[in-house]
Amino acid sequence: MLRLFKGGVMKKTIKDIALRGKRTLVRCDFNVPMENGEITDDTRIKAALPTIKYLMNEGARVILMSHLGRPKGVPNKEFSLEKVAERLSELLESDVIFASSDSVIDEQVRKIAEGLKEGQVMLLENLRFRKEETDNDHDFAKELASLGDVFVQEAFGTAHRAHASTAGVAEFMPAVSGFLIEKEVKFLGDAVADPKRPFVAIMGGAKVADKIKVIENLLEKVDTLIVGGGMAYTFFKAKGYEIGTSIFDEGGILLAENIMKKAEKSGKDLILPVDIVVADKFENDAEKKIVDSKKIPENMMGLDIGPETIKLFKKIIADAETVVWNGPVGVFEMDNFAEGTKAVANALAESDCVSIIGGGDSAAAVKKFGLEGKMTHISTGGGASLEFLEGKELPGIAVIQDVNH
Ligand code: 3PG
Repeated sequence: MLRLFKGGVMKKTIKDIALRGKRTLVRCDFNVPMENGEITDDTRIKAALPTIKYLMNEGARVILMSHLGRPKGVPNKEFSLEKVAERLSELLESDVIFASSDSVIDEQVRKIAEGLKEGQVMLLENLRFRKEETDNDHDFAKELASLGDVFVQEAFGTAHRAHASTAGVAEFMPAVSGFLIEKEVKFLGDAVADPKRPFVAIMGGAKVADKIKVIENLLEKVDTLIVGGGMAYTFFKAKGYEIGTSIFDEGGILLAENIMKKAEKSGKDLILPVDIVVADKFENDAEKKIVDSKKIPENMMGLDIGPETIKLFKKIIADAETVVWNGPVGVFEMDNFAEGTKAVANALAESDCVSIIGGGDSAAAVKKFGLEGKMTHISTGGGASLEFLEGKELPGIAVIQDVNH
């Protein structure tokens, strides 16, 4: 059973239903990064393996579906899931039938689905080759549902989208969750709702506006909120500091002011960088120096946190019992400005705390530094993990049946 914190609702998982011989229509998030037609990171494929293997072992007939990129409703070989089928087959050490069809479902695909033997696996073509997918079209959802007996929601990364394959389909068949959804909800949900304290959130990334709701929601729950990365300059601006040519988010100034007021009122520590690595241009080999946060030179931009800030952040992380990290604290993609983000990742890796990494850039940073094995949980969802941390009910999770259904 999957326990959702909101209202304590219990949702059904694949463990709660009979699977032998059942055609299970499984929505995965195989939206993996590709370069020159090759998969560059298969994390999301690996994340779905426990569910797929369980279904195979239980004798289900497994029909997998996913989107890849944003082909905008038009069939396009560049966005084909064929490579995913190949990689999945290698990882499973078992055949995966790739049901290649520009229309996702046609007579041939239907025949393959009908002829699947117990434990056999097939993968449909990119759902977004059909415009009806993102439109959450009723008829397309019905068409998808007609392939199977039960819907398994496994696509945490896409659970914030109300599309035909993530939400609509559940109107036509019973819906249960796979293990990945269960795991993500457990870590992102429980850690935030019932954290071991001190509970610290580290927020980074460029724009305050993108993360304002997460910050507001987390601020109520954390003991300490650390703000780093590009969004720190909006906070500096709100405090009246000189920020030189650093990026900032004009519309976010008021939001930053409000967050600082709220933190003060509720007695929460809001920690901003005390020193900054500045550079004369946005380039890895730019001239750089360390300055006090209040004194960023007029013609320079902040690209990373400085050594005093690293010490400060490390101490807070070392004392924490739970840390949620979302967004890098510097331009970690450039090696000369990666120190701060690397230090945060290392501090988390060394700590015994429950470390939860929101998907997207912070997950990419942890991987870049080879520390993924040292974190308690790295979310497979970028946008989805943000919306989940905002406290929103995700449409793809809402459609999963309650236990007492
Ligand atoms: C993601 O990578 O965040 C998900 O796969 C959703 O993709 P989308 O933003 O194109 O809907």
